[in-house]
Amino acid sequence: MVVVMAPDATDEQIAHVAERVESVGGQAFVSRGVVRTIIGLVGDIESFHGLNLRTMPGVADVHRISDPFKLVSRQHHPDRSTVWVGPKGHQVPIGPDTFTFIAGPCAVETPTQTLEAAEMARAAGATLLRGGAFKPRTSPYAFQGLGVRGLEILADVRETTGLPVVTEVVDARDVAVVAEYADMLQIGTRNMANFGLLQAAGEAGKPVLLKRGMTATIEEWLMAAEYVAQRGNLDVVLCERGIRTFEPRTRNTLDISAVPIVQSTSHLPVIVDPSHAGGRRDLVLPLSRAAMGAGADGVIVDVHPDPEHALCDGPQALFGADLRALAQAVRQLPPVLGRVDA
Ligand code: E4P
Ligand code: PEP
Repeated sequence: MVVVMAPDATDEQIAHVAERVESVGGQAFVSRGVVRTIIGLVGDIESFHGLNLRTMPGVADVHRISDPFKLVSRQHHPDRSTVWVGPKGHQVPIGPDTFTFIAGPCAVETPTQTLEAAEMARAAGATLLRGGAFKPRTSPYAFQGLGVRGLEILADVRETTGLPVVTEVVDARDVAVVAEYADMLQIGTRNMANFGLLQAAGEAGKPVLLKRGMTATIEEWLMAAEYVAQRGNLDVVLCERGIRTFEPRTRNTLDISAVPIVQSTSHLPVIVDPSHAGGRRDLVLPLSRAAMGAGADGVIVDVHPDPEHALCDGPQALFGADLRALAQAVRQLPPVLGRVDA
């Protein structure tokens, strides 16, 4: 259920509605939009009916949300959201009025490699730096990431380059330490349904980048985002990174239709990861173009100064001419598509 406040509703009227909802054991999630404030109600619908919310001062409308996911639904928040990432004074937007380019190393390997990759990303026009300090790997014998040392390297590289950092947290026990260093917490495809991790990330006070599970439906993906939102954090960015299908020629199959479907269903921004989708350097540019054409709010790509010797996912990492070609596409296409001012 959602309560739509009148455009001139006062803070006291908004607080009063929230208090009435909480008085019957419900949760009230206040979303302040540009034009209006919406209060998402979570709890026993029947108990809300007894409150006669529609008659309360400042209330314009009350209606049920038919979607199983409530807080991330556009029925709750009709305007598409922008999520701001980074320290005050240097925040980067991800949302409908821009196209955000995120790039960096798949894995933080050394200070030099990470700085080089970050400089490559920044030179290409990236405004956020990605980099894995905790790496989910199929094999326990594969490089697992540098852990906290990797977080320290990312913090140093942010200091040098000014790029806010998004990095993955794999275990709920690490959320606090990752949130100490990162500007955005990434939850990977393998952990999309790790509900304890989702809830912990929702309480960490940082924006969350939520990768789609490689075998997840769109509804399951949005329900995972609801776990984060239900803990009070609506700053969630969804990332389509390909799904597992029968096609062996690509690492995953980029489900490009997910971009417009999710954008019409949820107010959350949706970006695309062409690197993990295709798993091949030569596919990153065409899949990025497809993402821009489908209306994605950004892309996140792997770059590496020496992919041949990368400790993770070298074959999909960009460098040199391939990275320059993507940089050009990111500069030229979004204005043509009306995403940013030409
Ligand atoms: C992401 O960077 C993952 O850690 C990586 O793609 C896992 O690949 P693997 O399962 O082949 O090790
Ligand atoms: C990553 O982006 O480092 C990563 C692990 O990706 P995914 O979860 O999509 O495999």
